[in-house]
Formats: sequence, structure tokens, C-alpha cells
Amino acid sequence: METLFIGKNILFLTEVDSTNTYAMNLLRNVNTIEGTLIYTNHQTHGRGQRGAVWKADIASNLTFSVILKPQFLSSEKSFYLSKITALAIYDVLTEILKDSQYDIKIKWPNDILVNQKKIAGILIENTLNQTMLNYSVIGIGLNVNQTEFNTEFKAVSLKALKNIDFERKDVLAKLCQHLEKWYLRLRENKLSIINESYISRLFGLKELLEYTEIKTQRRFKAKIEGVEFSGKLVLRELGTNKLLVFDLKELKFPL
Ligand code: BTN
Repeated sequence: METLFIGKNILFLTEVDSTNTYAMNLLRNVNTIEGTLIYTNHQTHGRGQRGAVWKADIASNLTFSVILKPQFLSSEKSFYLSKITALAIYDVLTEILKDSQYDIKIKWPNDILVNQKKIAGILIENTLNQTMLNYSVIGIGLNVNQTEFNTEFKAVSLKALKNIDFERKDVLAKLCQHLEKWYLRLRENKLSIINESYISRLFGLKELLEYTEIKTQRRFKAKIEGVEFSGKLVLRELGTNKLLVFDLKELKFPL
């Protein structure tokens, strides 16, 4: 692994309920070095955002968690971890898919899309020390060699896009390198490059799309204007020209 600390220490599990759950339990019991990676070929209870399940064929995809210690970050800035993880996956995909026919985008808050289909998801869980973050578990699911999906959203994998099998450990190594690069930028407080990069790669940026407010089921047309530093999405509504701000579970995208 050509990194300083991410993925230097790898814990391989043939089968586990969820690498995130395993990592969170590990942190409760032992002192774990930063960058430790929990990797498995089979999650029996893979967890997704908003209590969803994350399914992946056995030994086909990447399902793993990285333990970080972002003790320099206040909990109100925890969304930066989502941003850097999304940016790392984005960079890996750009490196692998170097071809203009692939439209790689980050769908707020942190899905990664290629040609409007989901290729990766992120689940981050933190422990706090008063107002500061203590440990973070960065869970990543990236579709690599699976070609059939029965998900309620449109999904895709590297193999489905390129028609070749990928060596998962090579993709994992790239992910560790790019995650470390972005994490070091965060540690150095280079927030504007992180913000600008994240915003510019967002699906729907400055595009007029129809959204649904989950609570009221109200549909409206709007353009993404930006993301607040707390992670909330800022939209400008067509017609009224008002700025609307949405928290993580409040908005449905037109996909
Ligand atoms: C999403 O809903 O998009 C997030 C999916 C996150 C899946 C990964 S797979 C490795 C890690 N362990 C889990 O249980 N979930 C994350």
C-alpha cells in the first residue's frame, strides 16, 4: 500500500455483519491505530444510509471501512469527512474511467454516480469527545465486478461500464491513496479547495431539476446553488427565486 497510514494495517474478515458495525465495536474495546482498514468479501447485514441495507454479491465488490481519528475537527464540521470521501472515490473513478463518455458526479450528500447510476455509497459514523470528533468510521461500498442489481435505484459497476473484470485490491489501493490525500488536505485545513472541488462535482449543479420535499411531498423546480458548511443543500427555486435549505433527509432527487 503506497500510503502513509490508510490501509497500512488491514483486518480481513471472511464474513461479517457489517464492516462499519465491526469497526465501531472495535473502537469501544481497543485502541486502534489511525488508518486501520476493515475489509470483507461478505457482509451479511451491510448498512446503507437512512437505515437501508447495502447488498453486494459475495467477493465481487469492495465493502470496507477505514478508521480515522479526526480529533482536530469539531463535530459541526463532520460533513467534511463525507466531502473528502466522495472526492476520493470521484478521483479513483476518474483515474480508472479516463474517458469522456463517463459522466462522474457526486449526488448530494454522498452517493457517487456514473452516467446517473449509483456506483458507490458512503456511510460515516463518528464518536465524539465533547464538541470535537474523536474517531470516525468511513464505510465505503463500491460496485466493482457485480453486473446484476436488484436495488430500488439504478446501480452500475466498473465491470458493467468497461466490460472487463477488475482486480479489487488495485482499486482498493487507489482508494486508500486518494482518501489519504484528501484527508491530509482536511487536516491541513485546506477547506476552500475541498469545498470548491465538492461543489463543482455535484450532480444537478446549476441545472434546473424537479425535487420533492419529503415532509410535504411538494414538488418544485430548482437549481443547486451550493452546500452550507454544515452539509445542508442550498437550492434556488424557479419562479419565486427563493433560496431553500435542506437537511440530509429532507429532499428527494429526480433520479
Ligand atoms: C449508502 O446507502 O449509499 C451507503 C452505503 C455504504 C455501504 C458500505 S459497505 C462497507 C460499510 N459497511 C456497511 O455496513 N456499510 C458501509
